[in-house]
Amino acid sequence: NGGAVDPKNLKVKLVLLGDSGVGKSCIVLRFVRGQFDPTSKVTVGASFLSQTIALQDSTTVKFEIWDTAGQERYAALAPLYYRGAAVAVVVYDITSPESFAKAQYWVKELQKHGSPDIVMALVGNKADLNEKREVTTQDGIDCAEKNGMFFIETSAKTADNINQLFEEIAKRLP
Ligand code: GTP
Ligand code: MG
Repeated sequence: NGGAVDPKNLKVKLVLLGDSGVGKSCIVLRFVRGQFDPTSKVTVGASFLSQTIALQDSTTVKFEIWDTAGQERYAALAPLYYRGAAVAVVVYDITSPESFAKAQYWVKELQKHGSPDIVMALVGNKADLNEKREVTTQDGIDCAEKNGMFFIETSAKTADNINQLFEEIAKRLP
């Protein structure tokens, strides 16, 4: 038929993990609604949102997003959300070395208990706060490389690299 490509419609379960306050909910709000909330409230348990994007080859990808709660008291719930997830997005805040250490903890958890073919992304958020940066870009690159992850720095505040994050994930789906 003239080489036309059959359109594909993919549905992808994605989980966001990372310390409280790193900006997980703001990343999702930016991606799904194009908004930023400077007074974003801590997530309780988890919240669910979905968003569909179209790729250049007319594939559509519907992300079913589980935005987990980063506070320690909710840590035991995380497996409920990352189990069976095709994609895990591990977020830290570039101004917080503690949040970077926590991100590495989540990466290990996912390697131990996540699905073996899970696509993992490491995200350094709050890139707009460069003057307060305490985690270098190279630290992020090294950690991601060591763990076979895709790496990107984002800002939910300015929208920098937010759509790119999800587009790059879509390209890496098996
Ligand atoms: P939990 O739900 O507790 O796990 O936290 P969270 O990771 O969902 O954090 P949330 O998205 O609620 O953001 C926490 C705070 O960081 C809020 O005050 C946001 O406005 C702020 N914030 C989020 N993203 C950015 C960003 O890219 N830049 C700046 N400057 N602030 C941000
Ligand atoms: Mg949240």
